[in-house]
Amino acid sequence: MSERISPRDVNVLFFGPPGAGKGTQADLVAPVLRAAHVSTGELFRAIQREETPLAAQVRAIMEAGEYVPDGVTVAMLEAHVKMLNAAQPELRGVIFDGFPRTPQQVAALDTFLGSRAEHVDAVVYIGVPLEVLLPRLLARGRADDTPEAITTRFVKYENATAPLLVEYERRGIAVHRIDGNQAVEAVKADVVAALSPLFKGQASRGT
Ligand code: AP5
Repeated sequence: MSERISPRDVNVLFFGPPGAGKGTQADLVAPVLRAAHVSTGELFRAIQREETPLAAQVRAIMEAGEYVPDGVTVAMLEAHVKMLNAAQPELRGVIFDGFPRTPQQVAALDTFLGSRAEHVDAVVYIGVPLEVLLPRLLARGRADDTPEAITTRFVKYENATAPLLVEYERRGIAVHRIDGNQAVEAVKADVVAALSPLFKGQASRGT
């Protein structure tokens, strides 16, 4: 009897500066594509609510707008994706929102996906001018939406994370550049149009 080969996940990365709408769009399009939305920012906010030494460390880093160390981030991400694989076999793929953000995280994701005979299938870059983002974030008022932390987040993004897009383009991976300076529904339509062909016909892990 031949062994059934499990369908592999479609893996999509959402890139964009702080406040571009990565989380908003991933929440909206994940159900349409039947994908999991994995946000490292959300996972860290959940950790912050725990009464542990790690919670205090993560809170201080996030409120300063700095990046959590790669080792902590990668371990958390991998554990969460493995848990999703087991708990939600009906999903067809994963939207990684806010991960990877450093070259070390790119390498860790390559190894993790490679161990599952998977790879990054596409990148969505949501672009919004910085002068639009600042008032957006100040209006939201999250704990890390202070002028100082926002400035640090912008600088970290420009220096450490934006260059990673070039690396994915160099590999020949499709990078979809979406105008995020439109109404939320218009951005969603553009993201769904870019990603639908990738997910079309993709069987879920449970089939
Ligand atoms: P994270 O939560 O990922 O923060 P971020 O990248 O700074 O992004 P935001 O959540 O602020 O913005 P977004 O692009 O998701 O936009 P959103 O949809 O929320 O990470 C937080 C922190 O965690 C990091 O600073 C770091 O410390 C740590 N961390 C996370 N990942 C890490 C990693 N991989 N490595 C190390 N550390 C990590 O929208 C923003 C606002 O705009 C909302 O109010 C929304 O309603 C509004 N909005 C959205 N779209 C529109 C639109 N089209 N028009 C008008 N308003 C809009």
